[in-house]
Amino acid sequence: MNPKYRKTVIAGNWKMNLLPSQLKDYADALKELLGREHPCEAVLCVPALMAIPMLRYLRGSRVGLGVQDVSAEEGGAFTGEISAAQLKDAGVKYVIVGHSERRAYHGETDELIGRKLRRVLEAGMTPILCVGETLSQRDAGAETDVVRTQLKLALAGLDAAAMRKTVVAYEPVWAIGTGRTAAPAQAQDMCREIRAAIRESYDARTARAVTVQYGGSMNPANAAELLAQPDVDGGLIGGASLDPKKFYQIVEAAKI
Ligand code: 13P
Repeated sequence: MNPKYRKTVIAGNWKMNLLPSQLKDYADALKELLGREHPCEAVLCVPALMAIPMLRYLRGSRVGLGVQDVSAEEGGAFTGEISAAQLKDAGVKYVIVGHSERRAYHGETDELIGRKLRRVLEAGMTPILCVGETLSQRDAGAETDVVRTQLKLALAGLDAAAMRKTVVAYEPVWAIGTGRTAAPAQAQDMCREIRAAIRESYDARTARAVTVQYGGSMNPANAAELLAQPDVDGGLIGGASLDPKKFYQIVEAAKI
C-alpha cells in the first residue's frame, strides 16, 4: 500500500489529441464524475494551446492542469517555443519533460531534459520526468542501467529539496500505446529501483517523498493492480485519458 507521506498522482497525457471545441464537454463530464473530492491528485496534461480554456472549464474542480513540454530557454527569440514563466503565468501546475516520444522524434537528450526540468522547478511548477527503456534494451537486460543513466543525467546537480518536488514517471517504451502493459511486478521492480537510485544520490527521506508513477497502456482494467504496488505512486495515462469516464475510473482505482 502506498504510504501516506507521498502523493499519488494520476496524470493524463493527451499527447496531440482532441480539439479545443471538445474541451468543455470533456471537462463537464469529468467534473460530474469526480465531484469535489477524489482519492488522489488528478492532473490533465493537455496540448499547450488548450491550457488556458481548459483551466476555465475545470474551474470548480480540483483537477490540476499540466502540459507536455517546455522550452529549456528562459525567454526571447525562440520561435515556436513556450517558456516555463509563460506556462506558470497561465496557471499551469505540471509539465511533462523527457517523454520517450520527444526523445525519439525530437532528438531530446538527457542534458536538454535536465535543463527543462530545472526551468519547470525554478518557475514553481512540478516536473514529471519520464524515463524508460526500449524493448531491445530490455531484451538485452539493460533496462536498469538505461533508467539509472537517464535519471542520473537529467537530475545532475539538483538539490534534495528540488528532487522532492519532482515526479518521476517510469514509462517502458514497449508498453506505450501498444496495449502491452508491464506486469505489476515489472512496474514495481523498476519503480523500486528508481527510488533506490534517488536514495543513493540523496537520502532515505527524499527517496520516500518522491512520487514515482508508472505509465504505459494503463487502463481501468489494470490500474488497481498496478497502483497497489508499494513503489507505484500513480500513473501517467495516454490513450485512456482521452475518455473522461476511463480517466475517472483510473483516478478511483487509486483508492487503496
Ligand atoms: P498509453 O497509455 O497510451 O500507452 O500512453 C502512455 C504514455 O505515453 C503516457 O505518457
